[in-house]
Amino acid sequence: MKTFTSAAELQQALREEKSHHNSIGYVPTMGFLHQGHATLLEKARNENDIVVLSIFVNPLQFGPNEDFETYPRDLERDENVAAKAGVDYLFYPTVHEMYGEEPSVKVVVQSRTDCLCGKQRPGHFDGVATVLTKFFNIILPDRAYFGKKDAQQVAVIDGLIQDFNFPIQLVAVDTVREEDGLAKSSRNVNLSVQERMEARELYQSLLKAKEAVESGERNAAAVTALVSEHIGAHTSGVIDYIEVYQYPELKPIETLSGHVIIAMAIKFKHARLIDNITINIE
Ligand code: PAF
Repeated sequence: MKTFTSAAELQQALREEKSHHNSIGYVPTMGFLHQGHATLLEKARNENDIVVLSIFVNPLQFGPNEDFETYPRDLERDENVAAKAGVDYLFYPTVHEMYGEEPSVKVVVQSRTDCLCGKQRPGHFDGVATVLTKFFNIILPDRAYFGKKDAQQVAVIDGLIQDFNFPIQLVAVDTVREEDGLAKSSRNVNLSVQERMEARELYQSLLKAKEAVESGERNAAAVTALVSEHIGAHTSGVIDYIEVYQYPELKPIETLSGHVIIAMAIKFKHARLIDNITINIE
């Protein structure tokens, strides 16, 4: 595995790979790699000749009161995970390498953002779309891999790839979960022991909702109420949102039909957790 901090040097190495017609799979991350990332890397490894991993905690996608400073970072550990996963090129740029002194252009996302996390994190998806536009242009991958846990991010990136004509296949990969159902996340380490026990209830509440839908419940408000009651009764977390939408359009619905998403964000003392489930209704 080769590690690059310079975009120009990485581009040079990848030009060389492309000249040999090697396909490139790209996994963008903010580091502190966990099983979820390892699964993306494994899939990328199986489907491409070359695997590129980027690790960059992107300041542009954090709000002023968010956890940019305290976001967990551990390059040495990440390098071991990456090497074991068969990564060929690790790109680890500084903020200055990515944005220089004063960037003059940013990408603004127009739709699919005024709900779920986007609503409460103004500018977040502009930051994600901007950094990915840069990474896509630097790496020019054939495929890019993202976790379905960030379902809104997947919907936004789908729009970015289509609108900007990136010749990249978006590969959305199933959420990887702990044994008790908690979605893997870098932020889980910030939960107290008690909160970690409660956190299993996020997925349990989604399964309960899914069961209700499969038994015929079609009223969106009834479904969100069911999830909300479960979270309230079994956790000390504060509900940021529990919402139901058409997916991937992220259009609000009153009556469930077609492909729908039930998504939630729950705030614990030092960690805000998100999770979702999608259901196909015949
Ligand atoms: O999902 C993430 O970790 C980030 O939003 C991403 C896609 C790496 C962009 O910074």
